[in-house]
Amino acid sequence: MEYRVKNIGLAKDGWNKIRWAESHMPVLMKIKEANQKRRPLTGVRISAVLHVTKETAALVRTLRDLGADVWLAGSNPLSTQDDVAAALAEDGIHVYAWRGENESEYYSNIDIIVNANPNVVMDDGGDLHALLHEKYSNIRIKGGTEETTTGVVRLKAMEESGVLRYPVIAVNNAFTKYLFDNRIGTGQSAIDGILRSTNILLAGKIAVVVGYGWVGRGIATKLKGLGARTIVVEANPFRALEAVMDGFDVLPMDKASKIGDLFVTATGNINVIDVEHFRNMKDGAVLANAGHFNVEIDVKGLKEMSKQVSVIRENLEEYMLENGKRIYLLADGRLVNLVGAEGHPSEVMDLSFSNQALSVIYLTNNSLSNKVINVPEEIDEQVALLKLESMGIEINKMTKEQLNYIKQWKYGT
Ligand SMILES: NC(=O)c1ccc[n+]([C@@H]2O[C@H](COP(=O)([O-])OP(=O)(O)OC[C@H]3O[C@@H](n4cnc5c(N)ncnc54)[C@H](O)[C@@H]3O)[C@@H](O)[C@H]2O)c1
Repeated sequence: MEYRVKNIGLAKDGWNKIRWAESHMPVLMKIKEANQKRRPLTGVRISAVLHVTKETAALVRTLRDLGADVWLAGSNPLSTQDDVAAALAEDGIHVYAWRGENESEYYSNIDIIVNANPNVVMDDGGDLHALLHEKYSNIRIKGGTEETTTGVVRLKAMEESGVLRYPVIAVNNAFTKYLFDNRIGTGQSAIDGILRSTNILLAGKIAVVVGYGWVGRGIATKLKGLGARTIVVEANPFRALEAVMDGFDVLPMDKASKIGDLFVTATGNINVIDVEHFRNMKDGAVLANAGHFNVEIDVKGLKEMSKQVSVIRENLEEYMLENGKRIYLLADGRLVNLVGAEGHPSEVMDLSFSNQALSVIYLTNNSLSNKVINVPEEIDEQVALLKLESMGIEINKMTKEQLNYIKQWKYGT
């Protein structure tokens, strides 16, 4: 079987979504157009574990049109857009994903795309890279890419313990990725997911954002912009200071947990909201997670201390605690923007996935050492320039005199 999707009959809706995404991803389309004749990925087999969204469809179709044989599985059991998966299957991509996979289905889909014997891999979160270092350490891989902060953290740990067995380009670390995807993209799409799941009014609510990294600062800024009285919880002193000077109240979680109406986690860390915090919370508190894994809110602990769990509407569950208080959990504690909404807007994924496409070409053309490597500066800059051009925005050019001036040390006062 060349694909496994929920319902191939959904392909028509999927095609409409893919066309919409591609028409909002001008940089990726330009990269495709510029390389289509040369087909630099001929002979390359790519296995990718990514959220199966309309934007990912634009990416894998680009890679295929540049010559690659692409195998795709989802990077989260709940984030696959089934109509998009159906359209991709119809388009000849080997796609193995559907929304609502259980854990064994999730891993068996990844097993299938690994058994296709890829020479290049693309991952979002590090599950595929981890499998290739444990269960499938026999498969020869030329190189890989990694999309998100959590995946890069895991890969750095592999590199530091001396086990990383192929080079990986940390797409997450490109300026044109984290400054826009993590911050602007998640800022908007996490709120989209919260609103689609609850339709609560944000103005006047006390919102607590846990983690003031790239994702957290995006979410906190947008929540504040919509009128929420926003509090930041941070563990890093520099980032806490930054949050204070950006105008947020900063509190530790034990204090914030007593006053928040809405909590959003974005730390990449485990149990940042735990049973002690649930006990402190006001009746009706709403919890959402925007970090990569569903470990940031202790969902298991919440279940154990609840006498009843009811589904209120799609992606919204009510937990009735023993003490009679109700806590509302969105998207089962998984990425609220991908499960409760559609993930980042296409315009943002245009930047992230242009870095992905150019990074795959780069690593197939170069011999790199087994390290976590940043996206080459010229690729990052090319993506920024192409995006500006697509938006019709011109930037200033430094004169020769200025270029010389900023490189010298002799001129002073
Ligand atoms: N939802 C999405 O679409 C999306 C997009 C990009 C990244 N991510 C994920 O979001 C998470 C955060 O990414 P990022 O780029 O902002 O990372 P980051 O490292 O820039 O920020 C994480 C922040 O959380 C803080 N933190 C860690 N533990 C904490 C604790 N116990 N209490 C308070 N603060 C704590 C850290 O000090 C840091 O400032 C990662 O899991 C990443 O993979 C999700």
